[in-house]
Amino acid sequence: MASSFTPKQAIEFDGALLKELQGDVSDKIALTLLKELGLSRMLSSSVIHDNGCGYGAVTMAVMAAEPPAGVQIHATDINEMYLAELKAALAKNPTWPVKVETMDACALTFPDNTFDLSVATFVFAGLTDDVAAASHVRRTLKPGGTGVIAVWKDMPWHAALENAHHKIRGSDEPMAPFLSMTRYKKNEVAKDAEAGGWSPDELEFVEKAEWLNLGPDLKRWATIAWSFLAKPAGGWQQRDEDRWDEAVDSIVEELGQGAWHKVEDGVHKIRMVADVAIMRKQG
Ligand SMILES: C[S@@+](CC[C@H](N)C(=O)[O-])C[C@H]1O[C@@H](n2cnc3c(N)ncnc32)[C@H](O)[C@@H]1O
Repeated sequence: MASSFTPKQAIEFDGALLKELQGDVSDKIALTLLKELGLSRMLSSSVIHDNGCGYGAVTMAVMAAEPPAGVQIHATDINEMYLAELKAALAKNPTWPVKVETMDACALTFPDNTFDLSVATFVFAGLTDDVAAASHVRRTLKPGGTGVIAVWKDMPWHAALENAHHKIRGSDEPMAPFLSMTRYKKNEVAKDAEAGGWSPDELEFVEKAEWLNLGPDLKRWATIAWSFLAKPAGGWQQRDEDRWDEAVDSIVEELGQGAWHKVEDGVHKIRMVADVAIMRKQG
C-alpha cells in the first residue's frame, strides 16, 4: 500500500509552482512552432486544439499571433491545478475564444474532423495509452489538418534528478515514476503514431532548442523539482526526509556544472532540445 508520509521539506504544489518548475521554455517553443506552421495564414474558421494544455502555452502562442475573429481554441487537460492557472489567465482576457475542458488525451470526446490544428507539446510522455492518444489526434483533425506532438530530446536537468535518485535510494530501486515517464522519445512518437493510424508519409520531425529559465536560485528550483518529480513508487519514505538536503545539493551541483548551463543576468538557464512531429492528415 502506498504510504501517506511526506518529507517535511517537500513543497506542497499549486499551479503557480508547476509554472515555476516548467519555466517558459514550452511557451517559447510553442511560439516558434506556431509561427513556422503559418499561423499568420489562420482563417476565421480555424479550430485549434491545445491538447494537454497545462497552463496554456499553445493557447497563449495562438493568441499572441492575433488570430482573425472567428478562430476557436479548445484547451483540454486532466490536471485541475494547471487548468486553474489557465482559467485565471483567461479571466483577465474574457474576449479570447478559448473553451477549457477537463479531458483525457487518450479518450478525446470531440467529434471526428473537428480541428485544423491539434498541438500536444510535452504531453506524450506520461500517458496511459499513447497509441490511443495519437489515434485521437488523427481522428479529430480535419482532412488536410496538422497535428503536432513535441517531446523532449535533451533534458539535461533530468540526469541530475536521476543521479540524485540513485544516490539516495540505490541503483536497484525503480526510478521515481515521474522521472521514468520522460524517457519517451522521438522513436516512441513515430512508433505510436503509426500504431495509431498515421502513415509514415504523413510524419516529419523537426528539432527545436530553447533555454529553460530556472530563476536566480538553483536550490529553490531543485527543491521544487525534487518535490514534484522524485516521489518514489510506493510513496515517500523516512529516508527521503533524512537525506533530502543531500539529494537537493547533488542536483544543484550537477546542474551548475553542465556544459548546457549558463547564468545570464543572475538567472540560471539550461538548454533544452525538443523533437517535434509535424503530422499532416491526408484524406
Ligand atoms: C509538461 S506539461 C505540458 C503542458 C503544455 N502543453 C505546455 O507545453 O506547456 C504536460 C501536460 O500534460 C497533461 N496531461 C498528462 N496526462 C494527460 C492526459 N491523459 N490527458 C490530457 N492531459 C494530460 C498534464 O496535466 C500537463 O498539463
